[in-house]
Amino acid sequence: MDILVTGGLGFIGSHTVVSLIEAGYRPVIIDNLSNSDLSILQGIEAITGSSPVFFKGDVNDQALLSSIFEQFKISAVIHFAAFKAVGESVQKPLDYYQNNVGGLVSLLKSMKRYNVHHLVFSSSCTVYGEPEHIPVSEHESIKPASSPYGATKQMCETILQDVNWCHSQCLRYFNPVGAHSSAHIGELPLGVPNNLVPFITQTAAGIRKELVIFGSDYPTPDGTNIRDYIHVMDLASAHVASLNRLLKGENKHYFEVFNIGSGKGNSVLEVIHAFENATGVKVPYKIGDRRIGDVVQVWADTAKVTETLGWKPSRGIEEMMADAWRWQQQIQRNQELN
Ligand code: UD1
Repeated sequence: MDILVTGGLGFIGSHTVVSLIEAGYRPVIIDNLSNSDLSILQGIEAITGSSPVFFKGDVNDQALLSSIFEQFKISAVIHFAAFKAVGESVQKPLDYYQNNVGGLVSLLKSMKRYNVHHLVFSSSCTVYGEPEHIPVSEHESIKPASSPYGATKQMCETILQDVNWCHSQCLRYFNPVGAHSSAHIGELPLGVPNNLVPFITQTAAGIRKELVIFGSDYPTPDGTNIRDYIHVMDLASAHVASLNRLLKGENKHYFEVFNIGSGKGNSVLEVIHAFENATGVKVPYKIGDRRIGDVVQVWADTAKVTETLGWKPSRGIEEMMADAWRWQQQIQRNQELN
């Protein structure tokens, strides 16, 4: 079965493409390379031994979408293509609304025209804001968004609730980290990383002088923020499980949401220590000010996804760190060769 994967060369998209191929699906990738690189396509080929179809282009390009839907018999779409930097979204809100919300609308219009009624959508735990109950379940109320990025994810979920001809599954990701264990693919952060784990690996590699921990006076056991880190390959397999549910017609409602996390919380300090234990490499760090907009702590209640999709994560925090580090070293080897 042909599955359209928008943003299929991005961090989560590329790992999902590998899982799709391994599960016997044929991914058709569209990616505008705004936050990726063609080397990721070669990495996918090296892992799977197959070359997925790839179109360089944008989901806002209706003509390109039409030509893809005409050339391939697409059974379902997994929609990753979106911007994801919280701070940047405050600087460039219209770019975020156009790319994230406009992109989904454009995609849905094409899907309707070509009678494609199945969609897996990349959502985020950011929709819960600072949750009242932890672990946070899908019953938690949605909080007012604290950034245009968060607002786009909420708006996209609202759109999918309104579009009742489309069977959609919103996967609310917690904090995806790590890389494929082969180190053929992984995250390619542009410039200075915003996210914790790429910052740790770049600091360990000597690219950054030191990591700044954004606050150590939070009401948590060690004073640093707690998040739910999930290995990107576990996240990838959740997409395959979700897709299987849609394609077998097992969904109970046209719109369903699932938390995709490990179900465990780790503080920033615990993540640093896990990295050091897993790799034997020290991460120089200092304590800095709180980052505006950070929630204190959040981790997932994964009961619904485990019961409904039969999906469970299998990789722990040290494996996430070891794989992230292997990938960082590979990036540097690739740069030395070029
Ligand atoms: C947030 C959102 C997530 C969204 C993501 C997009 C929440 C709970 N999560 O992730 O849904 O998809 O943004 O980027 O809102 N940290 C440091 N120093 C650093 C970098 C990070 O101490 O240099 C800390 C942060 O303060 C935070 C933790 O590390 O406590 C994780 O930060 P990050 O990787 O940026 O992810 P979130 O902010 O949790």
